[in-house]
Amino acid sequence: MDPTLHIETPPKSLQALLEGRRGETLSLPSAACEALEIAQDPECRPQHLACVISRDPMLAADTLALANSPVFAGGKTLTSLHRAITRLGIRQCKNLIIASSTAGMMKRLPIEQIWVRELLLRHSFATATVAVYLGEFLDLGFDGEEFTAGLLHDLGRLIFALVDPDRFQLADPLNFQESQQTLQREREIFQTDHCHLGAWFANRQRLPHALTESILFHHTPSSECNHQKLVAITSAADHLANHLQRSGESMSYDPEGNLGIKMLEEVVNRPLLESFTEITEPILERTQADLEVSCKDLCESDSRCSE
Ligand SMILES: [Fe+2]
Ligand SMILES: [Fe+2]
Repeated sequence: MDPTLHIETPPKSLQALLEGRRGETLSLPSAACEALEIAQDPECRPQHLACVISRDPMLAADTLALANSPVFAGGKTLTSLHRAITRLGIRQCKNLIIASSTAGMMKRLPIEQIWVRELLLRHSFATATVAVYLGEFLDLGFDGEEFTAGLLHDLGRLIFALVDPDRFQLADPLNFQESQQTLQREREIFQTDHCHLGAWFANRQRLPHALTESILFHHTPSSECNHQKLVAITSAADHLANHLQRSGESMSYDPEGNLGIKMLEEVVNRPLLESFTEITEPILERTQADLEVSCKDLCESDSRCSE
């Protein structure tokens, strides 16, 4: 872990819940960890990576579903993992493995919590998709990591919902405000907030530092972090995604209060706010259309795997 990064350790009671009632520790699938290890190797071959991912049918189905989501596939349906990896490249696949493992964790929410799962999954996808389009429209030079950061940014909320659904409902009204009051309420109930819990978990799973930082700082983007551009775009995309889910429409977005876009301006050292105001509507429209496809595909891969 980056020694300059201050991540709070969750209270012991929460850690005990994470270990699970049946000794089933909440973690990323072992095939995902192995695939990520392999993907670090510059000599890594697509066949080898496809082989490791295939060992976990859920991971394989989710990786393929994500590879076919509109932001990645551009309308061309990929039917084999090997082809998907070859087309997308190892780096992009690494992002997809992390993303699909998280989507897999979401599916562990019990059936009575299905609406929570749907809302969190939609919010993760909305943030990830907005981040990709924002990066493209503003020509920010990202290469897939912004999608993964968007998908993972609220990992802490997912963990709260998984390990303690009753207290999660008290702490998080799922109203797409994600205000400082929400974080405060989480602290009162769980003695930590979803930013710290998500970052702690990501760090424990040895996910890349840039992702850990984007989870930790997505509500408080600051110049103190090492991966400022990724943190800033995640925060900016989260603000937009919350507007979309709160209002259900792409118009009337108010950029005031979007700390991410202000930080992005500083990081890339050029004015963005004016063009940002012009592009928010088309970005939100495209995101809304993409969401229908991406979320449906992931839910279908869920039912195919449980058959
Ligand atoms: Fe959040
Ligand atoms: Fe969020």
